[in-house]
Amino acid sequence: MNAQKYYQGFKMALFFMAGVVVCTDALQYIAHARAEVEDTTPRAVLAANEESMDDDKDEDTEFEAGKYASFEKDLEVGPEKEEEKQPAVQQKRQVQQPAQTTPPPPSTSQWPVTYSNAQAASLTVVVNKKHRLSSSYTPPLVSVQGGYLRPEAASALNQLFADASKAGVSLKIISSFRSYSTQVATYNRWVARSGQAQADTFSARPGHSEHQTGLAVDVGGVGSGCDLSTCFGNTPAGQWVAANAHRYGFFVRYPAGMQGITGYQYEPWHLRYVGSAAAAIVGSGLTMDQYYGVAAGGYQ
Ligand code: DAL
Ligand code: ZN
Repeated sequence: MNAQKYYQGFKMALFFMAGVVVCTDALQYIAHARAEVEDTTPRAVLAANEESMDDDKDEDTEFEAGKYASFEKDLEVGPEKEEEKQPAVQQKRQVQQPAQTTPPPPSTSQWPVTYSNAQAASLTVVVNKKHRLSSSYTPPLVSVQGGYLRPEAASALNQLFADASKAGVSLKIISSFRSYSTQVATYNRWVARSGQAQADTFSARPGHSEHQTGLAVDVGGVGSGCDLSTCFGNTPAGQWVAANAHRYGFFVRYPAGMQGITGYQYEPWHLRYVGSAAAAIVGSGLTMDQYYGVAAGGYQ
């Protein structure tokens, strides 16, 4: 009987131990399975992050490669493409290379320009120190007030003298048409008397005088005592001429203070005929050279 009790007790102990083993295995299994679903150990987190970084790195590499490819595409050089895209760069290049974009200054050898005789015949031909007439040019002339002018200028001057007389101003011609050869003698005389530098301020070199056009006239007031002198501008005759000449197609060609443009001192007695353009020239306040945009100033 005791042996049977010991045997049953031994069996229960075996069952208990087997149960413990089974339960332990079951718990370990559950724990392992859970760990596989959610591995939260630091090493696992680190490994997961590294794996994620590897993915990011691949993406970065592709992004960078695409970016550089795009950048290189931008750098593809084509003249039209560059012009479309980079006006600022082009401007900068222009500044950096002025010699390639700025026309060289005109050579002094282009002066003087010599007009053809057809050009010289224009009523508005601009004759100055840079633009001259041929020695062969002679205009058609008629006698007027003791001198000679082109017919258009002559008839206008007759009217001007007549109206000035009505206003109580008595005018006279001091000089009118001068041929090329006459200007040679006139200029040489002044150079001999005053020296070339001084003569060039009031006497034109041959070919450069408006008097050769037959459209210029030097006038004075009878008895004024200011012939070919700047004081003529202050006389009643000089003031009447300055105020009214444009109504007859004339104007004072060499105004005061404009020597840098015209090339000559103030000559209130030297009138130039252009016809209907005179009023606009006077109204502009410009010299004839400026009004017509013709290079002027000195001989060079
Ligand atoms: N006195 C002017 C400038 C001439 O000689 O034509
Ligand atoms: Zn003159």
